[in-house]
Amino acid sequence: MDFELTDDQRLIQQTARDFATREIEPIAAALDKTARWPGEIVAQMGALGFLGMTIPTEYGGAGLDNVSYSLACEELSRACASCGVIMSVNNSLFCDPLLKFGNEWQKREILTPTASGKLLGAYGLTEPSSGSDAQTMQTVAEKQGDGSWILNGSKNFITNGPEADHVLVFAITARVDGRAKHTALIVKKGQPGYAQSPHDEKLGIHAAHSCTIYFENVRVEKEYVLGDEGGGFKIAMATLDGGRIGIASQALGIARAALEKAIAYSKERKSFNQPLATFQAIQWMIADSDVELDAARLLTLRAAAMKDRGLRHSAESAMAKLYASEMSTRVTHRALQIFGGYGYTTEYGMERHYRDARITEIYEGTSEIQRIVIAKNAIG
Ligand code: CAA
Repeated sequence: MDFELTDDQRLIQQTARDFATREIEPIAAALDKTARWPGEIVAQMGALGFLGMTIPTEYGGAGLDNVSYSLACEELSRACASCGVIMSVNNSLFCDPLLKFGNEWQKREILTPTASGKLLGAYGLTEPSSGSDAQTMQTVAEKQGDGSWILNGSKNFITNGPEADHVLVFAITARVDGRAKHTALIVKKGQPGYAQSPHDEKLGIHAAHSCTIYFENVRVEKEYVLGDEGGGFKIAMATLDGGRIGIASQALGIARAALEKAIAYSKERKSFNQPLATFQAIQWMIADSDVELDAARLLTLRAAAMKDRGLRHSAESAMAKLYASEMSTRVTHRALQIFGGYGYTTEYGMERHYRDARITEIYEGTSEIQRIVIAKNAIG
């Protein structure tokens, strides 16, 4: 077993770190405060290849591996968790399924501009009354005589939804023996019958906009069906196996930002005439956080390496996402504690990391859902 990154992976990590430190970190607090969509950062991420990292260069991507993707997502999220998830959704939840299940036309016409950052993608599974139990969705699509589909329903909490050019929408297209059959449809924004809400107001990741999208008799031409008719639920699940690596990486970045700041502060700030870092209570908080962060990174990179080797990684991605997200909540909690009252104010930005960490336990499957996936794999 080799724990060393390759030279190429180190280069990507360093490139992402430099870009994030130079371009994103200085504006991250303002993005959080104003909830402004970071259009200029999204454009730069596209130009640098961060929006289609694992997509072959012939389809507009950077042609890299999933380990590099995870490393880059951690670095971007360390600077700004909103930018991290914008990037992760485009990579994992839109480009990855188009590469895996798309036909040549879809790869040329839709994947290529999205992987290169000219267009933006989103993923529409969740509905107002169907989150964890994803099969119970209400959105339906009915096949027409010419092979096109008429789509009706709504999807909510759609990250990148307000800005996306295409949304990968999962809809019920048949019922067999009372069981719903789902199909994945690539839906273009702005057609007749397509509407969206203002972006959601949230606890954290303020600059990563999400919204509800409504479909009222939206026509989807047959060229826009992704994969097999009736095979959509498996596409949704397989896609989330990859997406959970992205969210685990985002959680790592958030935790690392908080821990690095807490360590620096503990060396400067004195209490009882000594730097905080000399107190064992503080050292233990830092030590526990350091161990947990490292363990989460190992789980995440293992899942990414398995994906690179073409192995089924559903349980490993769920383990990485479960542990990394809960770790991020614990680490940001401790880091804020080290800052004391200053942590609770907006002055040092610790409360941003604390708020941003929380979503990683919820989206792309709650911690409870990750435990279901892990237990199913363990028990059989
Ligand atoms: N890969 C391929 N196929 C899979 C799969 C996977 N990872 N997981 C399940 N399947 C297949 C099963 O083999 C099964 O196939 P058959 O019908 O042929 O037997 C089929 O899919 C149904 O599987 P289950 O019976 O296990 O399905 P279930 O209804 O019990 O649900 C679940 C399983 C794990 C709870 C699932 O519903 C789930 O993951 N829920 C959470 C949904 C979620 O993560 N939502 C997040 C929304 S996206 C988001 O947050 C994006 C954002 O904006 C950031």
